[in-house]
Amino acid sequence: MSNNGKSLLLAAALCVWAAAASSAAEPVAPGAAAPNAETGPFTLPPLPYGEGALSPFISTETVRYHYGKHHKGYVTVLNNLTAGKPEAGRTLEELVKTVPTGPLFNAAAQVWNHTFYWNSLKPNGGGEPSGDLAAAIARDFGSFAQFREQFSQAAGSLFGSGWAWLVLDNGKLKVVQTSNAGNPLRQGQTPLLTLDVWEHAYYIDYRNVRAEYVEAAIDRLLDWGFAQSNFAKAGKP
Ligand SMILES: [Fe+2]
Repeated sequence: MSNNGKSLLLAAALCVWAAAASSAAEPVAPGAAAPNAETGPFTLPPLPYGEGALSPFISTETVRYHYGKHHKGYVTVLNNLTAGKPEAGRTLEELVKTVPTGPLFNAAAQVWNHTFYWNSLKPNGGGEPSGDLAAAIARDFGSFAQFREQFSQAAGSLFGSGWAWLVLDNGKLKVVQTSNAGNPLRQGQTPLLTLDVWEHAYYIDYRNVRAEYVEAAIDRLLDWGFAQSNFAKAGKP
């Protein structure tokens, strides 16, 4: 059985249990969200490495809160908002691309963005890409150093909360910013890498000095293999 199938069976079992438990306690209003959001179809993907793997550049404590509280919390909200609605049967990417701006979009996009963020980083990352992605960066930014400057600027200068991205837009690489839960898929762009610059991404380790977090993430943690694989997939019909 696929993991998805197992999740659905588990979800159904938990739904029955949650309904029985809630009926014994207090009535639930018709149409109310499921009391246990873990029963929903959207799940928290496992981290691609251990909680301490990005240390010392991003600490175990930061990952524990960022992944275990924030990312998980967005999954919970998404399951609550879609409980009993057709949106529960749509894919996360469909929701990110199509639902109107508002709480449902925010929850869906924050789940997508955070999963993409964890995959954009790796222990012993950083450095420079190679192969056709390296050539495309040289073509579209002039050099890797110029790309790096633009990406660092985008991450450092974004006002408030949001994300810096390397995207492919109509065949051309670009650095873009999105605010809050924004996602480049909404503009028809293909994300290749991202950096979360919400304060919760760095405040435990760097306090208010976002630039130090940005520099450390770029030089020590970015996973260019992940970017290359996204770039390769984007080139296929
Ligand atoms: Fe975050």
